[in-house]
Amino acid sequence: MIIRPEASEDAEILFTLTQRAFSQMPYSDGSEGRFLNALRSDGDLTLSLVAEDEGTIVGHVAFSPVRINDIDCGWFGLGPISVAPERQRQGIGRKLVDAGLSILEQRGASGCALIGDPALYSKLGFRCNKRLTYGEVPPEVVQFKTLSGQDPEGQLTFAPAFDPKP
Ligand SMILES: CC(C)(COP(=O)(O)OP(=O)(O)OC[C@H]1O[C@@H](n2cnc3c(N)ncnc32)[C@H](O)[C@@H]1OP(=O)(O)O)[C@@H](O)C(=O)NCCC(=O)NCCS
Repeated sequence: MIIRPEASEDAEILFTLTQRAFSQMPYSDGSEGRFLNALRSDGDLTLSLVAEDEGTIVGHVAFSPVRINDIDCGWFGLGPISVAPERQRQGIGRKLVDAGLSILEQRGASGCALIGDPALYSKLGFRCNKRLTYGEVPPEVVQFKTLSGQDPEGQLTFAPAFDPKP
């Protein structure tokens, strides 16, 4: 299996993969594939990696800029991340996250944040400090990994693609 940057011809497959992966999740409202497309069309897809196994795309992760207290301070958001349902729990998600964080670190990023299940993301090296917050969501689901410098504090804002549209 290889991890590589997305290519322009992957976009439709990645939309379908994202929709399939999230369709099983009770909290999903089916909008994750659209978030991915909106990040790309807004120019906010900082890093988009695919896991390809024998020519088939089996996983994907996106990273986009975030702001903390409305300041661009070198932090990025992780998501959406998707592994094909029939290939989950085989280490593909971990490979995608590790590869993405390593590339961001090489590029000088300060860290990476996300909203997600601590049971999953703690296994991938993320944690919470309850001082990085996101609106009214419970602070323990605001997860981060510091790559350089101080741990983050303040209000997190994701790329506009994630803003709920009326
Ligand atoms: C979440 C997802 C990307 C994880 O990818 P994956 O390839 O299945 O994960 P991995 O096999 O690399 O697992 C990495 C670690 O996380 C654990 N893990 C995986 N899914 C988990 C879950 N849902 N809850 C808790 N732990 C989980 C694994 O056990 C493993 O830990 P271990 O090595 O200590 O055993 C994948 O399950 C998926 O696409 N889910 C649907 C979409 C989704 O929920 N995305 C994330 C939304 S925040």
